[in-house]
Amino acid sequence: MKTAKRLNDFEAYLGTTMNVILTKMREEGKDVINLGLGDPDVQPPENQRRVLADACFDANNHHYPSFYSSMPLKEAIAAWYRRHFDVECDPETEVLPLLGSAEGLFHIHTCLLDTGDTALVPDPCYPAYVAGVKIAGGVIEPVPLLKKNGFVPDLGAIDPKVAQRAQMIWVNYPNNPTAANAPEEFYKNLIEWAHKYKVAVISDNPYSEVCFDGYKAPSFLQLDGAKEVGIEFNSLSKAYNSCGWRAGMMLGNKDIIAGMAKIKSHSDRGMFYPLQVAAAAALNGPTEFMAERNRIYKERRDVVVKGLQDVGLEVEIPKATFYVWASVPNGYKSHDFCFKILDEIAVWMIPGSMYGKYGEGYFRIALTHPAERLAGAMERLKRFMS
Ligand SMILES: Cc1ncc(COP(=O)(O)O)c(C=O)c1O
Repeated sequence: MKTAKRLNDFEAYLGTTMNVILTKMREEGKDVINLGLGDPDVQPPENQRRVLADACFDANNHHYPSFYSSMPLKEAIAAWYRRHFDVECDPETEVLPLLGSAEGLFHIHTCLLDTGDTALVPDPCYPAYVAGVKIAGGVIEPVPLLKKNGFVPDLGAIDPKVAQRAQMIWVNYPNNPTAANAPEEFYKNLIEWAHKYKVAVISDNPYSEVCFDGYKAPSFLQLDGAKEVGIEFNSLSKAYNSCGWRAGMMLGNKDIIAGMAKIKSHSDRGMFYPLQVAAAAALNGPTEFMAERNRIYKERRDVVVKGLQDVGLEVEIPKATFYVWASVPNGYKSHDFCFKILDEIAVWMIPGSMYGKYGEGYFRIALTHPAERLAGAMERLKRFMS
């Protein structure tokens, strides 16, 4: 069957290809430690799960949901942003629930780009941005994330001619894959820059609640003038340990929210009602579990950082996200190093080059296994490196 040519312009999500390889290795009896998986092993809070179960027994909850999702969930999202970031958004016009933020990350390109329009995309980045631009017929201008700049874009280095023709710029802090944070000063400059060049800022902030060492990740929307130039995505996936729920949100600029709601009125029928009820309960509910969850991730981070340092690898100590971004040993390309490790010690870590050209020289580890298992992976690495 002939499929559209545009399918040749991007790769399938990298997890899908690797899952086939890792499953085959396990079937052959290998004890593979998959440090690629960005899906927490910790459970969603109990109140959230109970509310979901109960909501399934309400006979009214099995109809088509409203196209634009019910007000209680929108109000819960707006109230969560008020409490967590001191950001005010009108639940009616400045908030939109999503079927996971990935759904929004995908449709935002259709919403903002006409064929041939330019999108500024960080490199390295979460791969969905690249695929989304290409599927929408847009053109990518990479914005390098370099170690010397703390893996934050250098706005001054963007050619003004490119900035003038750009429709949108992606930013993602705390960052996947580099685990870097952006200082508030960066957002201030970004908003000024976006006003000057009339570029929509699309901030992707799903790791806002996974922070350590007293660090508190900001929202782009906290800054004056942000809503005039952009929106922010967030999600229950990492904040509430609920990746499989597909419960996300976007907030900010009214015109972009209205455009996305229009697209969603055709692409889906809104979030399953019991999920809406449970997502609202989670957002309105206790957040104490987050401190304990973050303590667990911090303990794991320390195990991995020490393990990498012990074998002489250069590593940034992350203050947020559940990723560790480290340099490959001298003389290796990312891809060759990670696949050699997989082959020889059955540990899978993602090559930085899979996130873009500027990811070359690095690899990413996800802290989504118990500390003992991560320590086991570090032991294997030590044997490999000695
Ligand atoms: C940077 C980034 N954005 C978005 C997502 C997607 O999150 P969701 O589960 O809400 O679709 C992820 C998931 O790993 C991510 O790392």
